Amino acid sequence: MSETQALWWASTSFWRKTAIWVTAGSFVVLIFLTFDTVKQITAGGKRVPAYSVINQRIDYKFDEKRNFQVPVIGPEEPLFGKKVTEAEAEALVSHGKLTTQAKNCMDCHTLLGNGAYFAPDLTKAWLDPSWGAKETREQTMVEFLVHPELAAHNPLGRRMPNLKITEEEARATVAFLKWMSSIDTNGFPANFKPIDQSNAPTPAAAQP
Ligand code: HEC
Repeated sequence: MSETQALWWASTSFWRKTAIWVTAGSFVVLIFLTFDTVKQITAGGKRVPAYSVINQRIDYKFDEKRNFQVPVIGPEEPLFGKKVTEAEAEALVSHGKLTTQAKNCMDCHTLLGNGAYFAPDLTKAWLDPSWGAKETREQTMVEFLVHPELAAHNPLGRRMPNLKITEEEARATVAFLKWMSSIDTNGFPANFKPIDQSNAPTPAAAQP
């Protein structure tokens, strides 16, 4: 027996086959991961609710098993008190998303992990308790977005400039913020304190 025959793991053919199998195997895994990711990030899925979630209350509960706050879709609580269809909700949320892109909110804020940390993270901004009472908070958000220079919202010591957002764009942006706050982001951003909704009655039907 020659020496080269003995070293099977050093043969060219062994490594060629290994390369082919590893490449083919990784390809299959990548295809699976691509489809799985699309499923995870598409609105209407388990983690990213359908756009019509803006018709519901969005609550947060601490999940013992996962060890962070998770979104809980509550009873009906339409944005601006007006229930919208799935198509209307989608149009509103995408108008809001386009507004955040057109006005470059990410220059200062972070949305779903993208952006800057000059200003508060917007991923769960809809649940910020400093928007005040339930009856007025949505309108307060709209007014803030249209005239941020008039109101110091957080004790941050920084002011948001007036970005010439119209009332209509502001309402769409609020819809976008509400929808974004319903996304299960594995507890990101950490340590945010959601609005306390415990005083609001929860119908038995909405209990998990
Ligand atoms: C030039 C920087 C800058 C840009 C651009 C900017 N913001 Fe702000 N934003 C701020 C600052 C600073 C604050 C904190 C102001 C305060 O507390 O009074 C703030 C606060 C906010 C808040 C309140 C946050 C909370 O947690 O309650 C919201 C909502 C908000 N901005 C939305 C937006 C949206 C939507 C856009 C884009 C359309 C935008 N901002 C663009 C600087 C910016």
